[in-house]
Amino acid sequence: MPVYSDKVMDHFMNPRNVGEIEDPDGVGEVGNPVCGDMMTFYIRVKDGYLEDVKFKTFGCGAAIAVSSMVSELAKGKTLEEAMKIDAHTVAEELGGLPKNKFHCSNLGDEALHKAIQDYLGKKKQKEGKND
Ligand code: FES
Repeated sequence: MPVYSDKVMDHFMNPRNVGEIEDPDGVGEVGNPVCGDMMTFYIRVKDGYLEDVKFKTFGCGAAIAVSSMVSELAKGKTLEEAMKIDAHTVAEELGGLPKNKFHCSNLGDEALHKAIQDYLGKKKQKEGKND
């Protein structure tokens, strides 16, 4: 059993921002075929800011802690800032992750970035229609 930092344990036991956003502006879903874990991020965007971020994670303890931390880091950030959140930052903020659990932290920023890309894609489509 890997040794987790207190922060990982805290975010695993009391994950922040769990759930779904009704009628979200963007959704990003990722999975790891090796371990079978799945992560979905939902975002609400207002004036270029992430007004709300929620997630649903079916996965290991590290994946849950990572999702929770990513949601906290992303909330209130501009889309540009949120796109810069990466697996290293997340692992660092969590006080480190065991080596064999590092792939779990990749899922978090990937899912968030996918949700932002989904939002941007939809926005572009809408703008195209208005032309
Ligand atoms: Fe796969 Fe953690 S074991 S995400």
